[in-house]
Amino acid sequence: MDHDERVVPMRLQRYLARAGVASRRGSENLMTAGRVRVNGRVTTELGSKVDPLVDEVMVDGVLVQMANRPVYLVLNKPAGYLTTMKDPRGRPCVAQLVPRRRYPGLFPVGRLDRDTTGVLLFTTNGKAAQELLHPSKHVAKHYVALVDGTPSARDLERLARGIMLDDGPAQPAQAQVLGPSDALFCAVAPEGALDNTSVVGITLREGRKHQVKRMLAAVGHKVLRLHRDAFGPVTVGSCEEGSWRLLSEAETSELERIVGIESS
Ligand code: URA
Repeated sequence: MDHDERVVPMRLQRYLARAGVASRRGSENLMTAGRVRVNGRVTTELGSKVDPLVDEVMVDGVLVQMANRPVYLVLNKPAGYLTTMKDPRGRPCVAQLVPRRRYPGLFPVGRLDRDTTGVLLFTTNGKAAQELLHPSKHVAKHYVALVDGTPSARDLERLARGIMLDDGPAQPAQAQVLGPSDALFCAVAPEGALDNTSVVGITLREGRKHQVKRMLAAVGHKVLRLHRDAFGPVTVGSCEEGSWRLLSEAETSELERIVGIESS
């Protein structure tokens, strides 16, 4: 049980929102529409409070339990946002794009650079986050990069063998040059690749600082744009840039299986 859940009793609309039934406003609408019962009685009063440990809450006759499972969500990160929940200098940061009040304790799993776009996972489960980032778990992260020039077969082979970076050897990374017909091409080159540039797909199983940029630079190809399209089994799906979605049951179970956490 997290800190927030110990604060009982709580307002019914907050309880419903925490349980993932609807937003706080949406939950108020459900209440005023007479669709919510507490201990069998229709409750329309917006000031009503419930004790999550004691009261039985139903919406349209279906029992609602406040999530005691951790929350996992994915943000389709736009460029220009720092991966931090608070920036003392007031710069745009990802905290402004995720429902941090609805899910207290939410924080990002690892980092993307300010100019990198795409899949950024968030969770309230510190242990899962730590495990997902641990190199021993070998979680595959797939990136698409717009780079200067075109990597040769030899460059790709060097990446596949594992190159030396200034903070030690990088594990082997599979990379290939993508053509305009590849679905991921437009993630970094929506207007087509510019002269003397190309689009590269690359999979890493570790996550050191600026690692993709450093690896591609080490084989002579500066990264001009970078997008992460997958973190393990998770992609942005139908999320527009700047928006988020909760992970499905299947995605959550798969992540928890990867890190060895039993689903509750
Ligand atoms: N590698 C990078 O160089 N930057 C990122 O944001 C993520 C991976």
